[in-house]
Amino acid sequence: KMEAEPVNVSEFQELVKLALPKMYYDFYAGGAEDQHTLEENVKAFQRILIRPRVLIDVSRTDTSTTIMGYKTSAPIMIAPTAMHKLAHPEGEVATARASATANVIMVLSFSSTCTIEEVASSCNAVRFFQLYVYKRREISAFMVQRAERNGFKAIILTVDTPRLGRREADIKNKMVAPQLKNFEGLISTEVNTDKGSNLEAFASGVLNASLCWKDIGWLKSITSLPVLIKGVLTREDALRALEVGVAGIIVSNHGARQLDYSPATINVLEEVVVAVQGKIPVLFDGGVRRGTDIFKALALGAHAVMIGRPVIYGLAAKGEHGVSQVINMLKDELELTMALSGCCTVKDISRSHLSTEIDRLH
Ligand code: FNR
Repeated sequence: KMEAEPVNVSEFQELVKLALPKMYYDFYAGGAEDQHTLEENVKAFQRILIRPRVLIDVSRTDTSTTIMGYKTSAPIMIAPTAMHKLAHPEGEVATARASATANVIMVLSFSSTCTIEEVASSCNAVRFFQLYVYKRREISAFMVQRAERNGFKAIILTVDTPRLGRREADIKNKMVAPQLKNFEGLISTEVNTDKGSNLEAFASGVLNASLCWKDIGWLKSITSLPVLIKGVLTREDALRALEVGVAGIIVSNHGARQLDYSPATINVLEEVVVAVQGKIPVLFDGGVRRGTDIFKALALGAHAVMIGRPVIYGLAAKGEHGVSQVINMLKDELELTMALSGCCTVKDISRSHLSTEIDRLH
């Protein structure tokens, strides 16, 4: 029978749940332990309401913005997510092409299934590179060099993963990671484990749990690219990030895949924004599924949002075209939300366009 075209992100997810092998769907969709934070990332958005203004000329609306000095068509970026070839044979190259067409910035995951070089040569676009610092630090330094040589414009260091979170679906499914292409000949993802998640066994061998604040200095010393950190959830860490001189912060709980019972990211965004006082850009991810979610994050002070799972669902459903559709859906929903709220540009979106649960208590 003819499948009806999905009209929103959650319909893409439903399609993919039916189409992908369970092991891969669970890997993409799942979170840590009780998945409390996974649910909250989405639900917390639903408790925030929009305060629209009327009788404003919204016959012309413009979602374009500037992120780290680069003009993009919308305050939307592609979050770094691992192993796109499990979703589609073209993997990260298909995602990159869709991001280039839509003129949004893609952050390539360290754990990609296409190489840095393959992605770089697939199309012209502004791209950032996500980094893990491995125990073998020279491997991470080598990846930074390759990203820089291949024209990536920023390094996004993920700081919430000293160890991999406990993802019980992956344990039950005995999730097997494919070879990560950037490490071919350097590190094999084939780890012998007789039980549980092979991915977890691999990660615990390579991830460097001793990484700390002083190491930001090391990272800055080996690259001329701006360094942002991804995974900040408190004002305390936002202030430390300013002290060590990062170029930007990403408020993220890793899509609820690391620490369960960490807060929903939208609930702590404002705390971080207030601490940073506009000194550096604050980006945001976690649970963005609608244009209204993007509007809410911007109203709370985010420069832009990154989307993780929705991109994977688009990719798994229809390859490059599916990623384009997902990006365009979110962009169109944002533009409509702006028009219906009385905002012609992203700069017009302000804190007074929202009422949070806490606002409503006062
Ligand atoms: C991720 N995320 C992630 N982050 C990162 O820094 N490096 C990575 O390799 C990955 N890999 C990854 C795989 C999968 C399947 C998911 C779902 C997520 C986290 C990602 O960058 C982002 O923080 C979240 O995906 C944002 O939440 P949503 O949009 O998925 O709700």
